[in-house]
Amino acid sequence: MTLEQSENSTYAMGYSDEFTQILHRRNAETHAAHLLPHLKPGSRVLDIGCGPGTISVGLAKAVEPGELHGIDMEESQVMIARASAAAGGHGNATFDVGDATDLPFEDESFDAAHTHAVLMHVPDTEKVLSEVLRVLKPGGVLASREVITDASFVGPEDAVDDEAWNTFSKLVSANGGHPNMGRDLKDVFVRAGFVDVEASASFDVFSTAEDVAFFHGFVNQWFLSDEVIGPAVEFGLATLEQFEKWRGDMDRWDGHPGGVAGLAFGEAVGFKA
Ligand SMILES: C[S@@+](CC[C@H](N)C(=O)[O-])C[C@H]1O[C@@H](n2cnc3c(N)ncnc32)[C@H](O)[C@@H]1O
Repeated sequence: MTLEQSENSTYAMGYSDEFTQILHRRNAETHAAHLLPHLKPGSRVLDIGCGPGTISVGLAKAVEPGELHGIDMEESQVMIARASAAAGGHGNATFDVGDATDLPFEDESFDAAHTHAVLMHVPDTEKVLSEVLRVLKPGGVLASREVITDASFVGPEDAVDDEAWNTFSKLVSANGGHPNMGRDLKDVFVRAGFVDVEASASFDVFSTAEDVAFFHGFVNQWFLSDEVIGPAVEFGLATLEQFEKWRGDMDRWDGHPGGVAGLAFGEAVGFKA
């Protein structure tokens, strides 16, 4: 990731193996549980910003013999999603390159739409939701799950200072994103015109020794990588000394008997009238 790229790209996280490893730990049962009760066999569902498709393939399974269409602006992610669907025998799943703000689909052609950790990265939220309303059939459902950075944590208290999370927020904001989109989802849905909107919230928790080690490795290899630190320091979001302090904090945290991390997510489900 570089902040220079932000002039042309709105996505802060990049597509390195170091970042995408966290996406490969996701699936529909754990990360789209708020959507699954609204899906029926035969439904046509759209996964916007599908990434490597780890959630999408579970949505495809839930709507068989209906169709799952996944779109992502990044071709490399679409290729991974296609390979994953083929390997899993999900012949009803189709993946294409596409932009969330200009959906390449007909009006009123989907029963359900889904975003997971996507609205937080797209600057023009209203445009995405107006496009979703356009492609949903009347009565169709939109379900989203988006990060709440301010409610995410590394524990116990003082394991890492809050400025680390604030710097993550600044990185997302510097790319035009919304680091606390999960907190605002219900309001955003209501203002866009969705009805019967309900919100919920949940955490992705890293508590077992294996999960703590994973989270430590993820932070080291992504947030504390030269690709993030270089532009963040250059653009004055944090100092090199702060990053080095956080590296030491995280090294001590891994192995701490009380070590735990939580990524907070807000969820919302709403319907097209
Ligand atoms: C954090 S990843 C989440 C991927 C997947 N939904 C998941 O949770 O595993 C965000 C994805 O949104 C995609 N994305 C960001 N802005 C987009 C846009 N305007 N249109 C389509 N995809 C977009 C990125 O390319 C990236 O693959």
